[in-house]
Amino acid sequence: MPQQLTIGLFGFGSVGSGIYHLLKKKSIPEIKLKTIVVKNPDKPRSIPSEHFSYQPEAILEDSAINVVLELIDDADAAYSIVKKALHDKKHVITANKKMLAEHFEELVHLAQQQGVSLLYEASVCGSIPVIRTLEESFGYDPLTSLKAISNGTSNYVLTRLFQNPQPFEEIITDAQKHGFAESDPTLDIDGWDSKFKLIISNYHAFGALNTPKDILKVGIRHVKPEDIEFAKEKNFSIKLIGHSKLVDGKLEAYVAPQFIPASEAITNIAFENNAVEINADFAHQQVLQGKGAGSIPTASAVLSDLTSLLRNYAYPYSKANQKHAIKFDSERLIKVYISSYDREDLQPFQFNTEILCGTQKHLQYKIGTLSIKSLKEQVKDLRSEVFIAVFAD
Ligand code: HSE
Repeated sequence: MPQQLTIGLFGFGSVGSGIYHLLKKKSIPEIKLKTIVVKNPDKPRSIPSEHFSYQPEAILEDSAINVVLELIDDADAAYSIVKKALHDKKHVITANKKMLAEHFEELVHLAQQQGVSLLYEASVCGSIPVIRTLEESFGYDPLTSLKAISNGTSNYVLTRLFQNPQPFEEIITDAQKHGFAESDPTLDIDGWDSKFKLIISNYHAFGALNTPKDILKVGIRHVKPEDIEFAKEKNFSIKLIGHSKLVDGKLEAYVAPQFIPASEAITNIAFENNAVEINADFAHQQVLQGKGAGSIPTASAVLSDLTSLLRNYAYPYSKANQKHAIKFDSERLIKVYISSYDREDLQPFQFNTEILCGTQKHLQYKIGTLSIKSLKEQVKDLRSEVFIAVFAD
């Protein structure tokens, strides 16, 4: 028998207001939104202020509430809320990828220990049912790779730059207006958001768990018109990719812009759309695609978590429970392009093998191979305006 869900909602931003409107529209008898808690009483909102409470206790101390929807921006505050809710045996649905990636093992374990569900479909690729698909459809099909365009904002920026050269900042402002970008858009364009999503996906795809500090990430902040020209001339797209590949039982994983042949399906994923391409031993290649950001599409993933709770759903963690632990491999060599207007910026880069030096108008570039580990070391304290991209293999 479906249980009755009585919800406490934290946050009324893009996703929080989205789920509010979806629940109003669908009016599911077994699901009741009881309390909404927001932080700032003075912020103008689309519904009257009598709908809001301002103290977390209004939800956390209410024993009638059995589901917490955690949809706030602040990952540290979210962590406290989620921990307390799980401790008190409330189910939790969250979209907070940063909080999950930083505390994944602890929170998954806590939910299991307390016998409640921790669901987070909306945390990875917005509306696309990535997590449940990995669990339910590929739980026993060994995956060999996962390649994700998981940050809508970066994809939106790159799509617009491929249309015509235009100021980076203007595009970011537009992405913020559309509600795709994080309140701190450096999380989007510097690859953090994609890294958090990759960590969450890898646990469900391969049963492999990393912490954010372990994974190389390179963003798109310094992409220049000449880099785009270079890609176009070679018939490549540039996509910010969360990349994982299993070779000989070891997983290579990183986030970086990739040059992708125009003939590949994910080249055509445009604007805020996301895609996840997986290769599985039995199912072979599959591409999931759809809206990766935005209020209503992301809220649709929260709604699907809610309705799955009506059937008492919890992730089975099929891959993580198949006991052969997967090791990470950061020694694998990748082919990398680095560019800058200033030749001096390229000097410090050490390749394993240097393949080519070239120019694209005023831009200088070098191409060579190096290990994931070496690139991670070399970009750690990078201050120069170098753009880095990996050639997809
Ligand atoms: N800022 C994120 C993005 C929102 O651009 O994809 C969805 O997680």
